[in-house]
Amino acid sequence: MKRTKIKDILQSEQTGHKVNIKGWVRSFRNNQFIAVNDGSCMGNIQVVIELGADEALLKSITTGASVSVDGTVIPSLGKGQKVEIKADNVTMLGACDPEQFPLQLKNRPSLEYLREIAHLRFRTNTFGAVFRVRHTLAYAVHKFYNDRGFVYLHTPIITASDAEGAGEMFRVSTLPTEDTPRNEDGSVNYKEDFFGRCTNLTVSGQLEAELGAMAFGEVYTFGPTFRAENSNTARHLAEFWMIEPEVAFNDINDNMDLAEDFIRYVIAYALEHNREDLEFLAQRLMDEEKQKPQAERSDMALIEKLELVLNNKFERITYTDAINILLESPAYKKKKFKYDVSWGIDMQSEHERYLVEKHFKKPVIVTGYPKDIKAFYMRQNDDGKTVAAMDILVPGIGELVGGSQREERLDKLTQRMNEMHIPADEMYWYLDTRRYGTVPHAGFGLGFERLVQFVTGMTNIRDVIPFPRTPKNAEF
Ligand code: 4AD
Ligand code: MG
Repeated sequence: MKRTKIKDILQSEQTGHKVNIKGWVRSFRNNQFIAVNDGSCMGNIQVVIELGADEALLKSITTGASVSVDGTVIPSLGKGQKVEIKADNVTMLGACDPEQFPLQLKNRPSLEYLREIAHLRFRTNTFGAVFRVRHTLAYAVHKFYNDRGFVYLHTPIITASDAEGAGEMFRVSTLPTEDTPRNEDGSVNYKEDFFGRCTNLTVSGQLEAELGAMAFGEVYTFGPTFRAENSNTARHLAEFWMIEPEVAFNDINDNMDLAEDFIRYVIAYALEHNREDLEFLAQRLMDEEKQKPQAERSDMALIEKLELVLNNKFERITYTDAINILLESPAYKKKKFKYDVSWGIDMQSEHERYLVEKHFKKPVIVTGYPKDIKAFYMRQNDDGKTVAAMDILVPGIGELVGGSQREERLDKLTQRMNEMHIPADEMYWYLDTRRYGTVPHAGFGLGFERLVQFVTGMTNIRDVIPFPRTPKNAEF
């Protein structure tokens, strides 16, 4: 018999028909009730087996074991579910030694512990919910851009250029580590390397996306990006996924509108399609908050926070306004900030969070950053000091989006590249877009894991990507 997904059985609530289900045992009570989960949804289905079934079989039904069940769907007499399965036959597919199995679901394991057994953590309710939501968000990303006629462009993962000019890249090389070929001056001879030049993992697909936008008008990338920054925080990964739309003829205001529409769309999509998972995660977050001292607790529940984002326009302010708000803030006056505030600083996460969580209490888009703290490709404003950059800051996370209108004027761009020691000659291909039919254009990058964090309420970014890569950690 063909397998039916547990989600479909629970949703349809139909009874009286025969089904086959397959999944993993979550619990087994009274030698009679098996809770089976197949990952299709949060809920387990209760399987009722005849008292007095085969002893050996009963013994083997333990948490974590995989089973196949044939039986009839019947109305449930028990609490907590409308239907259950009266088993005709239970087949043990894979036993699971209860003495060895690290997931004892009864005593809620900590998130830290689950990170150490990330290869098994999908089987918990929390991670089941997180990764179903992550999937839905990824799907919603594609749907949003597809419905608007954007072309999904696969930009390269191995690259010879540093898109952000920040030098935080992982080298890709097949050169031997011993007796590495060297030039006369002692430097590594990359001509001998696989690509005949020095290459790295990409930090962003933006530069190539810009090339696409100059032909298709509207493109987006959605792929893994890599940063060798030594940031051991709850918001940084060395390998993360980024969505980067790039749109010809858009200016910075169009860019902000697109980003707002995009964020609202994917949140609404998850609320519509993963309600049960999100309600579970909201409860989990509430329980977690209760463990914290009163002063550190967030005063808003997860679903309300998401709905707030759906129903309110983001605040739009300039960097200069932001600095003034910080300088006027009680937190600054009482010397509560660890890092100093003055015009020109690269705002720290404590500053960004003050703006969104304390001052505006909603997402904020900051524009017009000082050019010296931003990348070379951002369009220079007429004041000579700032660029048409935009960062979107959200409660609990800080920076979710970084983007800008791009410098489309060849002379201004090359001048800025020279000032910032970006090798303009090697990037002739990028500059060619400004030589052959340049147009105003804009785009942004949204960190996918930060979005998943925001939507699921998970406080650590390591808990929203299946197998996190962080400094000194590449297990699994
Ligand atoms: O602000 P960033 O560095 O912008 C860019 O890379 C541009 N090329 C984007 C563009 O205009 N097309 O990164 C964009 C976003 C950040 O706002 C943040 O959400 C996320 O990527 N991000 C990270 N997420 C997890 N771990 C890290 N180490 C991240 N670094 C950036
Ligand atoms: Mg940024």
